[in-house]
Amino acid sequence: MRLFTAICLSDELKNALICAQSQLKGQIQAGNFTQPENLHITLAFLGETEKEKAAAEILEETDAAPFSLSLSGAGQFGSLWWVGVKENKALSTLAAGLHARFRGAGFALDARPFRPHITIARQVESNQNISLSIPRADMCVKQISLMQSQRIGGRLVYTQRFTKDLK
Ligand code: 2AM
Repeated sequence: MRLFTAICLSDELKNALICAQSQLKGQIQAGNFTQPENLHITLAFLGETEKEKAAAEILEETDAAPFSLSLSGAGQFGSLWWVGVKENKALSTLAAGLHARFRGAGFALDARPFRPHITIARQVESNQNISLSIPRADMCVKQISLMQSQRIGGRLVYTQRFTKDLK
């Protein structure tokens, strides 16, 4: 199964992201927009693995307190557009701890540095400069999730397999 760990987002953040998506829609020729239910921040992408139990145990052992998160700015990785989050020590510490424990347990993680972002659209085609104004939005992160990614009938479906409450 294809697994990743993620922060699922509050309605307030999702509404701000939907607003960013509609601004983007008005400035491009084509693009695949992330469905609202799929908007998330990836903490660690585990890829194809059968080690679901080991991954859930790593989440279960995570020792972190709830923390706040705010949207900030937007950008692109090639044709993928994302919305960023304000610099956040709690988030980077959480991600670094998870990455270290996943690596220690033999998961093959991406070697690229962690850049927290929320993908709002993929395969964007545009012939003009894109400018997005991201509404202010904050949330308190109280949970982290182990997610499964599947293609079902051509649609990307993310399912929560395990959730850890931060305390
Ligand atoms: P994203 O975070 O840029 O949107 C499930 O595929 C999630 O894991 C997506 O959010 C995806 O990208 C992220 N991800 C990170 N590295 C990935 C990789 N090498 N392949 C596929 N998805 C990856």
